[in-house]
Amino acid sequence: MLDSGFTDRTGRRVTLRPVDDDNWRAVADLAPRDDQRDWVPALAARYLLLTMRSDVWTSLAVYADDAVAGHVMWGVDDDGSRWIGGMVVDAAEQGRGVGRAAVRTLADWLAGPDATHPVRLSYHPDNTAAARLYTSLGFAPTGVMEDDELVAELSR
Ligand SMILES: CC(C)(COP(=O)(O)OP(=O)(O)OC[C@H]1O[C@@H](n2cnc3c(N)ncnc32)[C@H](O)[C@@H]1OP(=O)(O)O)[C@@H](O)C(=O)NCCC(=O)NCCS
Repeated sequence: MLDSGFTDRTGRRVTLRPVDDDNWRAVADLAPRDDQRDWVPALAARYLLLTMRSDVWTSLAVYADDAVAGHVMWGVDDDGSRWIGGMVVDAAEQGRGVGRAAVRTLADWLAGPDATHPVRLSYHPDNTAAARLYTSLGFAPTGVMEDDELVAELSR
């Protein structure tokens, strides 16, 4: 379990845990708002299939206390950079600080104890919620585009 001690705005502790026999159904059923489906699939189930079929990505369940509230995944690129993907907070859980706490927790862990590893992610430039979240956490566009998405790297 990844637990950096962050809470959401209602005081719930936000942790990242492996997807396992007990929580995979709840993770699979996570859904963004309908108007966010331009940016992410309709259900987090798609990400679980991707991580099962890929050697690159690992899915994690985002918990707010004991409730499954989101999905996020991580991977390591050939150049050693760490990547965050598949960030989705269930529509009913959005706007409470879960996404912010989850990305901070994962980015800190991926960067390593001395923040030696580059941490990157990508988002569509029109996805204003994602852009604001990532920018406010210190992710800056690198100038590289991947599949219509801006690649951003954490700078400290
Ligand atoms: C992007 C997302 C993960 C944010 O999760 P969240 O738990 O709702 O976000 P938080 O409550 O932690 O808010 C963090 C910041 O995001 C931004 N944000 C969140 N929702 C927003 C919205 N509807 N409009 C504009 N900005 C928004 C704000 O800057 C907010 O900052 P604040 O903490 O000062 O208010 C969530 O909206 C989501 O799942 N969206 C659909 C999937 C998606 O687009 N994923 C990213 C793909 S790259």
